[in-house]
Amino acid sequence: MYLLKQLPIGALFVLLWTSLSNAIPNSKKGRNEHANQTRVIAGVTVPDTPLVRAAQAYARAHADDMSYNHIMRTWLFGAIMISRSGNRSTIDPEVHAVSALLHDLGWDNTGELVSHDKRFEIDGAIAAWNFIEASVNNGTTQSYKWDDNRKQLVWDAIALHTTPSIFVYKQPLVFLTAAGINADFQGPNSDLSGLLTWDDYYQVKASFPRLNLASGVTKIMCGFAINKPATTYGKLLYKEDIFRDHQAHRDSDNFMMQFGERYVANYSQNAVGHLGIDEIVNALPN
Ligand SMILES: *[C@@H]1O[C@H](CO)[C@@H](O)[C@H](O)[C@H]1NC(C)=O
Ligand SMILES: *[C@@H]1O[C@H](CO)[C@@H](O)[C@H](O)[C@H]1NC(C)=O
Ligand SMILES: *[C@@H]1O[C@H](CO)[C@@H](O)[C@H](O)[C@H]1NC(C)=O
Ligand SMILES: *[C@@H]1O[C@H](CO)[C@@H](O)[C@H](O)[C@H]1NC(C)=O
Repeated sequence: MYLLKQLPIGALFVLLWTSLSNAIPNSKKGRNEHANQTRVIAGVTVPDTPLVRAAQAYARAHADDMSYNHIMRTWLFGAIMISRSGNRSTIDPEVHAVSALLHDLGWDNTGELVSHDKRFEIDGAIAAWNFIEASVNNGTTQSYKWDDNRKQLVWDAIALHTTPSIFVYKQPLVFLTAAGINADFQGPNSDLSGLLTWDDYYQVKASFPRLNLASGVTKIMCGFAINKPATTYGKLLYKEDIFRDHQAHRDSDNFMMQFGERYVANYSQNAVGHLGIDEIVNALPN
């Protein structure tokens, strides 16, 4: 059923792409040499380039099993959303794949990519940027494909993926990468794109089981709250804090919440059930 729905879209894309690429002058064809290479994972068509394969291997090497399955599901959910999005012609599926696959490098279970002073989303964004540059340098991908603009999309998609009040207004690629991630917690109930169905959710989950996502993610977040607390309440940025005092006391960087907590009656209890923590601790079960 699912495949029947998906295949015509994939076929249409290849057809469209073939006619488009024939219209592109020869000098530019090299830019898209892998553009029509795809493979199917859990019934979902995704781009298949050397860089995507390397990103998947890199994600696997820096994640526990729970996190890796979460990463794979978010990639596939995002790919499904993109295939149905009115903005799909503006989204490069390889840029999406790399963003989704590398979005949790800040959780790196080897510790190698985890800073002591930056929130995990920024560790991930920086590590992804470095991964792309290293992959250009060692010939896995080509520099003309990865200008700063493309790398910046990856950086933004990763850095903003936990901040829906901003990412929903960003480029379609940034939005749908984050929407794919968000949808992993409550399925279509937490899908901000409105493009994912329960059939999609169960189809993908069958290949990449959830492995106690809620408790696994809660444990990782509590690890940050214990080991680098200043990065978990964020801060109002002052230059001197960045350059001199990494351990300075910091307040939440959605600073409006601080006014609510300090001055508005019942603010905190009224927020319960509407916060990111609620989405995670009440995530759908295995
Ligand atoms: C893309 O598809 C066309 C038509 O199927 C094929 O001729 C071409 O070799 C493919 N390009 C690459 C890089 O595989
Ligand atoms: C396409 O993206 C823009 C934001 O860049 C958004 O306003 C619009 O709703 C999107 N359209 C569709 C059909 O998703
Ligand atoms: C190229 O660099 C990336 C990023 O460090 C790495 O994951 C990949 O394995 C390297 N590939 C080769 C062929 O050395
Ligand atoms: C705050 O909650 C208390 C107890 O539920 C209630 O009596 C009070 O009216 C609330 N105050 C406001 C401003 O909502």
